[in-house]
Amino acid sequence: MSKAIFEEFDGYQGIADEITFSRKHGTDYTIYRDSVNQQINLLHPSRMTLRVSDIIDETPSTKTLRLVSQDGYLPPFLAGQYIALFLDAKGVRTSRPYSISSPPNQTGYYDITVRRVEAGRVSTYLLDEVGRGDALESSGPAGHFYFNPVFHDRTMVCLAGGSGITPFMSMIREVVECGLDRTLYLFHGSKTLDEAIFYDELCAVSKRFENIFYVPVIEHPPEGYEGAKGLMTGTLIRKTLGDPREKTFYLCGPQGMYDFCVPELEVLDIPLRKIRKEVYGPPARIWEDPAWPREIQADDHFRVRVSGADAIHARAGEPLLTALENAGLRVPALCRSGECSMCRIKILSGKVFQPAGVPVRKSDRQFRYVHACVSYPLEDLEILV
Ligand code: FES
Repeated sequence: MSKAIFEEFDGYQGIADEITFSRKHGTDYTIYRDSVNQQINLLHPSRMTLRVSDIIDETPSTKTLRLVSQDGYLPPFLAGQYIALFLDAKGVRTSRPYSISSPPNQTGYYDITVRRVEAGRVSTYLLDEVGRGDALESSGPAGHFYFNPVFHDRTMVCLAGGSGITPFMSMIREVVECGLDRTLYLFHGSKTLDEAIFYDELCAVSKRFENIFYVPVIEHPPEGYEGAKGLMTGTLIRKTLGDPREKTFYLCGPQGMYDFCVPELEVLDIPLRKIRKEVYGPPARIWEDPAWPREIQADDHFRVRVSGADAIHARAGEPLLTALENAGLRVPALCRSGECSMCRIKILSGKVFQPAGVPVRKSDRQFRYVHACVSYPLEDLEILV
């Protein structure tokens, strides 16, 4: 009988014997454990050391830090993802997530674009104290705010508020640099024209590429400004897009922007499943949440006993994670927005406030686990970290 063609190939018999053996005795996959772990750590490192190679002025209050790897390798990411920086800012060990604003096809560096937050501990540290050549510790890329061709429409409508533009910059740069078959509308709300981050680049890109539409919306425009003014209203969005169907909407910005824009989109009959919101830190003024108990003031202080040790003090209007960090305690954290679950703690006694919409597993609720980054003390607590 003639041989099958594949039997002629070098190594065929060895593989065939291996298959026969493993069918009979099973395969010991533990022998691959080290190499699999190496690959996983390469693609999803929990910590990396990055060096600031350049600092680019963007607006009077915003700079881009260009970060390169210590050892020449940066893990791949999807446009829209973030890295968390871990740092000692003004005597406190803390972390902050920053969306990567450079495109994923740029494999030599990550850009993060940092806007000064008044009295913001980390933004002032990064903008005033970090210089070229400094090392920063970071997580690997993380987050779910990216385009997925299986579920999302090829026409993306992006609504950004202030520094919420950064993930969209990564997406736009990728679309134009890689020639992707996607159309992208970007509405960017800024207080003033001076503060419109990436304004010049976006004007140039939208002139050159017919699949990129850029609409800066300036709340307090200079005299004679002819572009869109005020807020990102449903009327403006409708007028720019025409038919809003078969488009996926992406929002990234402060809570106030979501509170305003989501109802505007609902008026346009955009179904909620077509509206994707990036996590953007804890609400700035949680005590203004409609469900916040009126008898508790933002400045009320409570005692929090941590893992049976001494008690620390926590302010009602501040996330528990911040109080723990201020007291020198280390709690793992990435997103600081209730999404990644890294900062889960167990409430042994006492009550906390958690804003609506924070995803909490049923089992977490049952066993009283909460996300410290979006939980606020409403009375004295005992917790397990
Ligand atoms: S840090 Fe991600 S859920 Fe708290």
